[in-house]
Amino acid sequence: MEEAEVRVLLVCLGNICRSPMAEGILSAKLEGLGRLGRYHIESAGTGGWHAGERPDPRTLAVLHRHGADCRSRARQVEPADFEHFDWILAMDRSNLRDLQRVCPPSRRDHLFLALEPAGGTDVPDPYYGGPEGFEQVYRLLDEALGLWITRWEGRSAGRG
Ligand code: 4NP
Repeated sequence: MEEAEVRVLLVCLGNICRSPMAEGILSAKLEGLGRLGRYHIESAGTGGWHAGERPDPRTLAVLHRHGADCRSRARQVEPADFEHFDWILAMDRSNLRDLQRVCPPSRRDHLFLALEPAGGTDVPDPYYGGPEGFEQVYRLLDEALGLWITRWEGRSAGRG
């Protein structure tokens, strides 16, 4: 039987710093495992101010330093996302609340905090800070996304 596709949406506020970082890390990890083909990964922002922009250069610099990349452009979360994605991972509690407000009640159990498997809460917004904030975002997401993969790959029959 063919494996079910796992559809993952990473969400932050602007979709130029944290969620593209998460998209790049997750894609690189899955590619390293030879499992990227099973997944459909996108990122989006709760806000639309940066729609159409490439990721922040500071996010790209950190990704490149770690052998990863993100080639997508920013977009805002749209209603169809709640139907399409199996796992919608919010970068912080504010993003999660914004998603919960517009998500149909029947799909709210698809919303999570990205750091949940690592026992964390918020990925700090690095936009107004220095480069070390972007490294911290990388470290937090690297750990948590590895744990998400363990969870997803452990469920060969899909959502259970
Ligand atoms: P992100 O960071 O949500 O991680 O992409 C931000 C990017 C832009 C803004 C805020 C946060 N902004 O206010 O423009």
